[in-house]
Amino acid sequence: MKNCNEVKKVLISAQEIQIKVEDLAKNVTRDYAGKRPLVVGVLKGAWIFLADLLRKAELDLDVDFICVSSYGNRTYSSGKVDVLKDLTMECRGRDVLLVEDIIDSGITLSHIKELLFFHGAKSVEIAALLSKPSRRKVSIDVKYLGFEIPDEFVVGYGMDYQERFRTLKDICILNEEVYKR
Ligand code: IMP
Ligand code: MG
Repeated sequence: MKNCNEVKKVLISAQEIQIKVEDLAKNVTRDYAGKRPLVVGVLKGAWIFLADLLRKAELDLDVDFICVSSYGNRTYSSGKVDVLKDLTMECRGRDVLLVEDIIDSGITLSHIKELLFFHGAKSVEIAALLSKPSRRKVSIDVKYLGFEIPDEFVVGYGMDYQERFRTLKDICILNEEVYKR
């Protein structure tokens, strides 16, 4: 998808993203060397970040996905997290790296983290590309964080608004009119 006329501005460019992801991948590689972590991507938003991060990390690892929904078609969390697709791999006794696109209230990740420990994970660390600290409702430790951003709804690089704009290469802010439709 090309940057279209619905985009108001580019917040983080594709190039800036790649430099940051490279950096995060180095840290992940260093910390998990010799450990074979289970990397869990949170669908759908984290798929592009996860693919880039793991191809840059030089690690023996397993990948699984969990799909949760807490937003519906709105731009804020409902506070209720439904698991739409659980893990297919066993996480008991594993070092889990949870990969997420963006942390807003923190509700989604704290819920998933709890679930993973409930299923017997040995350790759970978080890699998130973006964080909106001013929106946090529950505190959450993020070991590998890309960028802190202001309280703006963003799309691109995997992230959507009503399922659109995921394949934009940059992280963008949309024109206000898009949200009024
Ligand atoms: P939280 O539970 O409030 O932390 O919300 C996190 C989830 O909401 C993420 O997994 C995202 O999928 C989604 N989300 C939060 N902010 C944005 C945004 O600005 N753009 C796209 N998705 C977002
Ligand atoms: Mg997400």
